[in-house]
Amino acid sequence: MRDNFKSSFGVLVAMAGSAIGLGNLWRFPYLMGTNGGAAFIIIYLVLVFLLCLPIMMSEFVVGRRSQVNAVKAFKVLSPKGHWGLVGVLGVLASVALISFYCVVGGWTIDYLVHAVSFTLPEQGSSEDFFAAAVSTPWRTILYTYIFLALTALVLLAGIKDGIERYTKVMMPLLFLTIIIIAIRSVTLPGAGAGLEFLFKPDFSKVTGNTFLNALGQAFFSLSIGCATILTYGSYVKKQEKIVKLSSLTAISDTFFAILAGLAIMPAVFAFGISPSEGPGLLFVVLPDIFDQIAAGGVIAILFFFVLFIAAITSSISLLEVSVTYLIEACRMKRRMAVLLSSAVCLVLCTLCALSGGVLSDVHVLGKTFFDFFDMISANLLMPLCGLFIVIFVGWKLGRKDFVDELSNGGTLPNKRLYNAIFFMVKYVAPIVIAVIMIFGWL
Ligand code: PFF
Repeated sequence: MRDNFKSSFGVLVAMAGSAIGLGNLWRFPYLMGTNGGAAFIIIYLVLVFLLCLPIMMSEFVVGRRSQVNAVKAFKVLSPKGHWGLVGVLGVLASVALISFYCVVGGWTIDYLVHAVSFTLPEQGSSEDFFAAAVSTPWRTILYTYIFLALTALVLLAGIKDGIERYTKVMMPLLFLTIIIIAIRSVTLPGAGAGLEFLFKPDFSKVTGNTFLNALGQAFFSLSIGCATILTYGSYVKKQEKIVKLSSLTAISDTFFAILAGLAIMPAVFAFGISPSEGPGLLFVVLPDIFDQIAAGGVIAILFFFVLFIAAITSSISLLEVSVTYLIEACRMKRRMAVLLSSAVCLVLCTLCALSGGVLSDVHVLGKTFFDFFDMISANLLMPLCGLFIVIFVGWKLGRKDFVDELSNGGTLPNKRLYNAIFFMVKYVAPIVIAVIMIFGWL
């Protein structure tokens, strides 16, 4: 018998675990602050609930209705044509994304180890410390491999006994820890400027770009377009409520992103530093700050713990896509499938890990391996896979099957809502995704 998630809470924490990741921590707070604060949150929420959530539900429907891996799902639902290729895109997107995600995951372990042994850099030397962490081959490779191995270990135990069991512990801890850090951050003298940066509504900062940024961020943050939601959905029981689970996932993801803002920006402003985004914010600016605040050593441990948990619950969902595929398409035992997909990722991760040092001069399409995998996953494979999923659901699967799946075979009320969601999937979502892609490339 195929494995399954045991409880609704189990499905929710696994999906939220996938959604809440590095994107929430290193990009959302900065985007929010530079795009009009509270004004940005309103726009972001509208886009998430009106547009991205219907796309996420489409992925969920394809998985739950077919109860098979990403590639076969499309063939089961539409035996004619080449729709299986959409699933192939999803598998490729997940592999490309995990290749550099694990490297960053490795940095979080590296920093966590230093935080626990109180050997993080002193103020002023964070930049050199980060440069060494990224470019010293044994160091980036060792920690990347440990991160990948931990991800694989969870998957070896399966859905119920692996993913569900561990994310059920990790996600509540994640929320609790970020709340503790946020409290410390907002109570620092001078934290007010950070709160103002984050929340002060400023509609004059809202431009066309704000919408594009918000959309791109929502897409990445909700883990759409990598077949992760599809794969998790295929393990979800027929009595679970797709609309409710997807909405709760989006709410927890956004709530966590705002908490991340509260944990980071007030501290940054309290020290008169100008805000930034990306790895530099997490691995250079923050260690500098931790070195200067009371109880900073403990806060550093908590913070890198948060980063690690956020990253690993996302990478677990990414690796499961190819594991499920190998188990079913090649009739492999789970153990073999985990080993094989980890081995492929190991090779790609190695290239990405070394691109901060010995391979920094090797370029693909003008980019290092790390940046190349980042680019093809976020700007090409994910939006393309998302686009074909909504086209498939809207124009091939059709309204009847979609509404049937959302309403659990007609047993749930709210037919009007399901029809409205279908309208968004069929007509609005394809246009919007195409726009994100085109602007992403420009
Ligand atoms: N949602 C994750 C983040 O915000 O970091 C990234 C991600 C994970 C994207 C899993 C896609 C995915 F399938």
